[in-house]
Amino acid sequence: MFSFLKNNNQFIALDIGSQKISGASFIIKNGSPLIIKMDHQKSKGIRRSKLNNIEDLSSIINLVCKNVSSKSGKKELFCNITDPNIITKKNTTKINSGKLGVTKKEIRKIYRKNLTESNIKGKHLIYSSPHDFILDDDNLISNPLGKKCSKLGLISYNLFVENHYINELGSLFKKNKVEIKNFFDSGVASSYSCLDNNEKKEGVLCIDIGAETTKIVVYSDNKIIFCKNLGLAGDNVTSDVSHGLQISIEAAEHAKIMYGSVVAPFNEKVEIEIDSKRRKLISKNLLYGIIKPRYEEILEIIRDRIFDDINARLNIKSVVLTGGASKIFGIKNISENIFNRKAKVGKNLIGDIFSQDKPEFSTLMGIIKLANDFFMYNQIPNKSSSKVSVIMDKIDNWIEESYA
Ligand SMILES: Nc1ncnc2c1ncn2[C@@H]1O[C@H](COP(=O)(O)OP(=O)(O)OP(=O)(O)O)[C@@H](O)[C@H]1O
Ligand SMILES: [Mg+2]
Repeated sequence: MFSFLKNNNQFIALDIGSQKISGASFIIKNGSPLIIKMDHQKSKGIRRSKLNNIEDLSSIINLVCKNVSSKSGKKELFCNITDPNIITKKNTTKINSGKLGVTKKEIRKIYRKNLTESNIKGKHLIYSSPHDFILDDDNLISNPLGKKCSKLGLISYNLFVENHYINELGSLFKKNKVEIKNFFDSGVASSYSCLDNNEKKEGVLCIDIGAETTKIVVYSDNKIIFCKNLGLAGDNVTSDVSHGLQISIEAAEHAKIMYGSVVAPFNEKVEIEIDSKRRKLISKNLLYGIIKPRYEEILEIIRDRIFDDINARLNIKSVVLTGGASKIFGIKNISENIFNRKAKVGKNLIGDIFSQDKPEFSTLMGIIKLANDFFMYNQIPNKSSSKVSVIMDKIDNWIEESYA
């Protein structure tokens, strides 16, 4: 049935982050992904989501790909995009419906129409999800199959990223002779990895705090209802520590990871490394006094952005934090105070025990999960370069599964 399972192609997931580039090779076994090898290297050539040195970035990507893949065989790659200015847009499409009840053919037709109409000039549609159907302009339902109406409507929720991200990365991969199969949004990928179905049904806020960007995704009733990226994250904390203690960025990063916290520590003195020769004695309280306000600021900005959206505000029942910067000691406590909801650091739902407890790999794990779904719904891999036809194939198969 699944022709892709018979070929020897290697699948590689790649998370191009601002601090690290991580990759994993995987196969799909009985409908689930099985990770073969993982690797990560310090990022180079990418800053503030802009590719500022293609050669450097290319060499790191090549190294990670080489380290995770076996020598022979064609490689098919899945990779993330983090656009700080990601755009969300709902799109409503209507068609006339036959009097005998809505058929699969009509559902397919309205999906196709909706997708071709979901366009923004200069933007790439990176995620599209059907939200609700509308019967005769006023009755919202999730499954219209067999329902009688003369007009059928569909509201979709769409995410768009700048075309230039896709084009620049696309040409980089082309130069390296790697076929890029699909791009996924980083925030969506992280949420895919560490949210369970109950959380998504109940309403949940997923926050991936990386090095340079924080990715925010809200789910309710199993659908994404809010998505935003913020250009503030763990590196801003490090930079505050560096300024506050008058030490280098490297020493500040080390001090933050070793002794930092966002809950009041015992006031003990610790020795931090300034460079290979010099050390400095500081109190943990001083470090806490620098780190806590910056984390609070980031989380309060997120809260204010989200709570401006009444739908998101009412629907969030819990908060799941992920990304490397979610590893700071005490993040659960301050998140619960700021959001007034229960909070936790997410665990990756796939991968081995090592990667499950590593929130910095949630984007990578999510890309693998999204790639797995991509194949499940694209039983015959699509060779067309058209983005829309790739998504349409996915939808055709999704309809078969959902309305069988
Ligand atoms: N134990 C820790 N405590 C606090 N912060 C940490 C810890 N470990 C890592 N970090 C921070 O996490 C950040 C890196 O996170 P991550 O690996 O998720 O970034 P990235 O995916 O490369 O970046 P981005 O998603 O922004 O492109 C850095 O700012 C780092 O200082
Ligand atoms: Mg990241």
